[in-house]
Amino acid sequence: MQTITRLDMLRSEVAQLRRGGASVALVPTMGALHEGHLTLIRAARGQADHVVASIFVNPRQFGAGEDLEAYPRQMARDSALLEAEGVALLWAPAPEEVYPAGYATNVSVSGVSAGLCGADRPGHFDGVATVVCKLFNQVRPDLAFFGEKDWQQLAVIRRMARDLDLTQPEASAIHAVPTVREADGLAMSSRNAYLTPEQREQAAVLPRAMREAAAAIDSGSAVAETLDRLRGDLVAGGFDSVDYAELRDAATLERVGQREDAARLFVAARIGGTRLIDNIGL
Ligand code: PAF
Repeated sequence: MQTITRLDMLRSEVAQLRRGGASVALVPTMGALHEGHLTLIRAARGQADHVVASIFVNPRQFGAGEDLEAYPRQMARDSALLEAEGVALLWAPAPEEVYPAGYATNVSVSGVSAGLCGADRPGHFDGVATVVCKLFNQVRPDLAFFGEKDWQQLAVIRRMARDLDLTQPEASAIHAVPTVREADGLAMSSRNAYLTPEQREQAAVLPRAMREAAAAIDSGSAVAETLDRLRGDLVAGGFDSVDYAELRDAATLERVGQREDAARLFVAARIGGTRLIDNIGL
């Protein structure tokens, strides 16, 4: 596996990979890799001839007071993991390579970016859409892979690809991979590393309470009361606060007031200084 930090090198190495009509998949990450990321790589390897992974802690998707400085950076470990998974190229640019002096363009996707994490983290999805648009243009992959844990992010990226008529990848070639969970159900996330052992144990209440709420709504309980109970269960279980607990349409992300087949439950809650998110279908 080659690690590349300059865009001109990336372009020539990707061109080499493409020789003979081989296909290329991109798995964008911010590093601090866990089994969830490796599952994305394996899915990509199953569908493309070559996989390019990127590691870039994108400053534009962190708000003021968020964890940009503290975000775990483990390049040597991550690089060994990617190599062992058969990744062909690791694209690991410095911030100045992605946002050179004078950089002035923002990609903003309205609608699906509003609400949920978009409401709590103003500008976050502009940062995500901007960097993913750039990564797509830099690598020009045939396919791209993202985790369902960041469901809203996936909706934003697909909307952007459709709206901007992207062809590499096309919106239909943006693949979603189901969330990978720890044995107690907690969704894998690089931010789980911030939890103390006690908080980590308490955090298991999140997937458990979400499953209970989804089952209750499925069997006819009123949505508003069930979501109130869910918020209460999270705080009783050790969470400090709940940013949101909402039922939304899986595709449009519009709020849903009653049980529907396409509905999905979305939660963001804080424990210690750590904000955890998760989502499950009914
Ligand atoms: O999901 C992530 O790790 C990031 O938001 C992404 C898609 C790599 C963009 O920085």
